[in-house]
Amino acid sequence: MVTSNPILDAMGGNPLAGMQDLANERRAGDGPVFDFAVGDPDEPTPEPIRRALLDAVGPVSRYPTAAGQPALRGAVADWFARRHGVTLDPATQVVPSAGSKEAVFHLPLALVDPTGDRRHVLWGDPGYPIYGRGAQLAGGISDPVTLTHDGGWRLDLTAIETDRLARACMVWVNHPHNPTGATADLGYYREQLAVCREHDLLLASDECYQEVWFDRPPPSALEATDGDHAGVLAFVSLSKRSGMTGYRSGAIAGDAALIARLKRLRPYVGTASPDFVQAAAIAAWRDQDHVDERRAVFAAKRDIVLGFLTRAGIEVSGSQATFYVWFRAPGGDDEAYARALLDVGIIASPGRAFGPGGHGWLRLALVPTEEGCRAAVAAWQAAIDADLLPR
Ligand SMILES: Cc1ncc(COP(=O)(O)O)c(C=O)c1O
Repeated sequence: MVTSNPILDAMGGNPLAGMQDLANERRAGDGPVFDFAVGDPDEPTPEPIRRALLDAVGPVSRYPTAAGQPALRGAVADWFARRHGVTLDPATQVVPSAGSKEAVFHLPLALVDPTGDRRHVLWGDPGYPIYGRGAQLAGGISDPVTLTHDGGWRLDLTAIETDRLARACMVWVNHPHNPTGATADLGYYREQLAVCREHDLLLASDECYQEVWFDRPPPSALEATDGDHAGVLAFVSLSKRSGMTGYRSGAIAGDAALIARLKRLRPYVGTASPDFVQAAAIAAWRDQDHVDERRAVFAAKRDIVLGFLTRAGIEVSGSQATFYVWFRAPGGDDEAYARALLDVGIIASPGRAFGPGGHGWLRLALVPTEEGCRAAVAAWQAAIDADLLPR
């Protein structure tokens, strides 16, 4: 009998698998489907980025390095300087990743001492489940902190008991936030960093939605360090910024000692991006115009959906940035509301899919086109008028 990893076995399957099957049936059926479930919009990758990739495919293919091409690290550092006013040494404070998911997952492997007494990893629930999974599979303990509407869906370390902090080695924060779309200002990062420094915690900031904003550009945690990035890492990605989910390209930036540790770990992992992907990434980080154009597309879709929810008297929370809209389930049960929406062809994610803290809320990913969003809200309104949805 082949052995298995008990940590993996204990993770179990998707608790909403039944709901997903129904959604898949609906997708495969004949009727109109408005799919707001998966955070992977249809907008194309800009042509110059695709071209940069194709131009870089040479006759010989070599192993890429985990440290990445100096030009890519330079492009990331330049972007941090332009966008955030943050200074980074591309040689020591930046390392590319194959998207942020693997980088988020692998970080605890470089940090967690599986037999030590500080092996808890704090993260916000509802949230991106990989923070907890990465901690567990590295031999650490996932320690989710419940986020709330009243708390602005922000993980607040100043409100956490000292002994809980003493068991932790790191905390994940994520703004703009998946699934709620909540943002955080610079004061928030300063407060959290002060707690992290007092209690020797790494502040790991997942900033993959940094460029999808509507009112004002959200800050990076690295802006709160006043130039001394010790104990802080920011995780950025081209997936959402540049419509490059399929390319798998991002970067980790910040504390030079931690970046050095990641450069020791990551060659073992084998996630270095192919050189032609790195070439496309350089083109993407250097250009801002396509990012502004994408933001305008999401803004138009968001206006349609937010306008409808407000007119329908459905409470919206968070939703200041990202391409997610987060709303309270009429009737209180997010799964029941998602099932009822499914019956009228609208696929939304029940909040509980992102952890127990999401109970009672739902997430819409602004994936359909503007026209699709308009048709979806018309179908939704018709279902409300026909009394087909919980109130
Ligand atoms: C909060 C959050 N972090 C990280 C990721 C991973 O993104 P990628 O690996 O495409 O950069 C996602 C993807 O949806 C996400 O929602």
